[in-house]
Amino acid sequence: MAELRAPRGTADVLPDESDLWLRVEETVRRVCRSAGYGEIRTPIFEHTELFERGVGAVTDIVEKEMYTFQDKAGRSITLRPEGTAPCMRAYLEHNLKGWPQPVKMYYIGPMFRYERPQSGRFRQHTQFGVEAVGSPDPALDAEVVSILVGVYRNLGLAGFVIHLNTIGCPRCRPRYKEALVQALAGRVEELCPDCRRRLERNPLRVLDCKNEVCREISRDVPTVFEFLCDECRDHFEGVTTYLRALELEYEVDPRIVRGLDYYTKTVFEVVHAELGAQDVLGGGGRYDGLAEDLGGDHTPGVGFAAGIERAVMVLKTARAASAGVGASAAAAPGPGVSVFVATMGAPARLEGFRLVQALRERGVSADLDHMDRSLKAQMKHANRVGAAKVVILGEEELRAGAATVKDMSTSEQSQVTLDRLEDVVSGGGHTEK
Ligand code: HAM
Repeated sequence: MAELRAPRGTADVLPDESDLWLRVEETVRRVCRSAGYGEIRTPIFEHTELFERGVGAVTDIVEKEMYTFQDKAGRSITLRPEGTAPCMRAYLEHNLKGWPQPVKMYYIGPMFRYERPQSGRFRQHTQFGVEAVGSPDPALDAEVVSILVGVYRNLGLAGFVIHLNTIGCPRCRPRYKEALVQALAGRVEELCPDCRRRLERNPLRVLDCKNEVCREISRDVPTVFEFLCDECRDHFEGVTTYLRALELEYEVDPRIVRGLDYYTKTVFEVVHAELGAQDVLGGGGRYDGLAEDLGGDHTPGVGFAAGIERAVMVLKTARAASAGVGASAAAAPGPGVSVFVATMGAPARLEGFRLVQALRERGVSADLDHMDRSLKAQMKHANRVGAAKVVILGEEELRAGAATVKDMSTSEQSQVTLDRLEDVVSGGGHTEK
């Protein structure tokens, strides 16, 4: 039988990497909570209609990337490709407009898109994101940008750039789309097949095509700023004023149009050159029409989502660079423990087993050998798992009523009576020299 492998476009996060994931997740929770965002957990699958109406029927996501299936009762179900439409659905379904506004939510969880896998692009990926629903205030647009940046800064992740744009609203955008189509009319044949289709259905997307020829052709087209209505212009000015107040540097980039249909006014992406072709760490924007698309009352909102895999890729590169090539080769994968109890003989092992449990109950990470290793091999293993202290327990020690405690950084050894061992090893007492 062929060896079983994880499905294409999925990845395991093994214990030697999950510490980075936990760091990202803990940082997200801390930064979001500090800005008054509470966690929302929506289902992993939703009715397909939510995304057709929310994300938009003529988007790549809905046209070709959704994991859609019929459940046993014949309903069309889709594994969520993104988190904004579900959050808005939850807001409407639970009548959150009765809560103090805006309602600020954050989430961390898996998303599913049937895309062509490549570096930084998966079929199951994990996003963290925020949604602030219920207010059109441009300060909130700046706030969500600052939260995303705050997460990266707290992680020590540097070298990213904020790209900012506006795509207007249903009042001013149609005029811009018309102008775009006109400007490109003479060169339609030169555009890539995707852009020829986009020109008919969603001409803005021509602007973010990665194809060099398309980029060249769209270089001199008019920008959205010539077509914005007063409200959209004022709003964009507001966003930039608030971003400057936070001293957040950004580039106004007319090519940022985003691939989901619900956006109005502000759109932004945070880009990191180290990521290669899939260089967007995270992106988002305002979606003041989404609630109505889902059948609710007018409810403005703004938010972003960012891929954890991509953040981890950058963090891993930085970690490898700071550790130096080959420096981690000897270290064992996984979190390791701070105390290792090396034992010799069955009675000592039983005592060691009890000690390990007692230390764990005190919150000290501890372990002992499970591979029948010699004492020498146990000491080597303790070093590999990064133990700061090793307790050596053998028959002799048991007879004497005292164990040897070795400090692994100084190699100093001391004798500690068994009744004080727990206290001393967990940091609560002094060692006797
Ligand atoms: P998105 O740009 O489609 O936006 O996805 C957000 C982020 O998720 C991307 O910037 C990227 O880091 C990550 N991502 C997306 N697809 C993949 C993939 N196939 N593999 C790995 N990472 C991926 C949204 O989903 C919107 N809901 C964001 C938003 C929230 N807008 C307003 N509120």
